[in-house]
Amino acid sequence: MGERVKFEVDGQIGIATLSRPEKLNALDTKTRMELAEVVEEAEKSVRVLIITGSGKAFAAGADINELLQRDPVKALEATKLGTELFSRIEELEIPVIAAINGFALGGGCELAMACDMRIASEKAKFGQPEINLAIIPGAGGTQRLPRLVGLGMAKRLVLTGEIIDAQTALRIGLVDEVVEHDKLMEKSREVAMKIVEKSPLAVKIAKKALNASLNMPLREGLKYEASLFSLLFSSEDAKEGMRAFLEKRKPEFKGR
Ligand code: COA
Repeated sequence: MGERVKFEVDGQIGIATLSRPEKLNALDTKTRMELAEVVEEAEKSVRVLIITGSGKAFAAGADINELLQRDPVKALEATKLGTELFSRIEELEIPVIAAINGFALGGGCELAMACDMRIASEKAKFGQPEINLAIIPGAGGTQRLPRLVGLGMAKRLVLTGEIIDAQTALRIGLVDEVVEHDKLMEKSREVAMKIVEKSPLAVKIAKKALNASLNMPLREGLKYEASLFSLLFSSEDAKEGMRAFLEKRKPEFKGR
């Protein structure tokens, strides 16, 4: 599609590849705009989106050349756009898998955290090094990181700017799985395919219910879950899923 974000469709799976390897896929305005377009396109055309990077980085953060030009007003505008893009990814109706091939630093780590699942190459490296530039994460780093790894570890990473390897990221819960570098896309597609086989309606509703757990107190979240759970009993897919189980056959979901 674009110059900086390639989008390919393989059956029901979309793959967005950040393609500015000479700058370690630093997320400049053009890259973010192209990613925003790809995300919209993916929601319309595929059932799962995989986001990855080309070369040795997933994304090495915001573009520091652009950061240097910003005054507070421009910085606020930019952070709003970045935050909105990542929230849009988080709230997309289809699941998004981050296939983290290399450096995921600053905005790159924030992008990975906005995805629903994170699969990392053994070569991946993670961190929020903004503190080294005398700034702080501005696209969810101080908010999503503690939710994933706990407040103590998030403070360690944000306040020291330390870069951690994939195994450490796995141990603290920043990624779900670490795989051999050459197996990264194969594994990511395998996970995507498991989701593609499910009812798209149930997948969409499950993601909504899970996301709500971050934003609602438990009692409200449980009520919300109950309403979404009961709603699915009006779908043809739910009847098909239950019948297929009882008839010992593969279900054929239609997404309604
Ligand atoms: N913004 C702009 N350019 C960046 C960048 C960023 N966030 N990250 C890397 N680049 C550029 C480098 O300036 C360099 O460009 P050049 O070849 O024109 O000099 C190119 O990408 C390659 O990076 P380089 O630093 O030479 O690679 P390396 O393997 O030696 O180091 C990193 C890799 C990731 C450790 C290092 O690039 C780095 O620390 N990047 C910044 C990470 C960061 O602070 N991100 C948060 C920003 S808020």
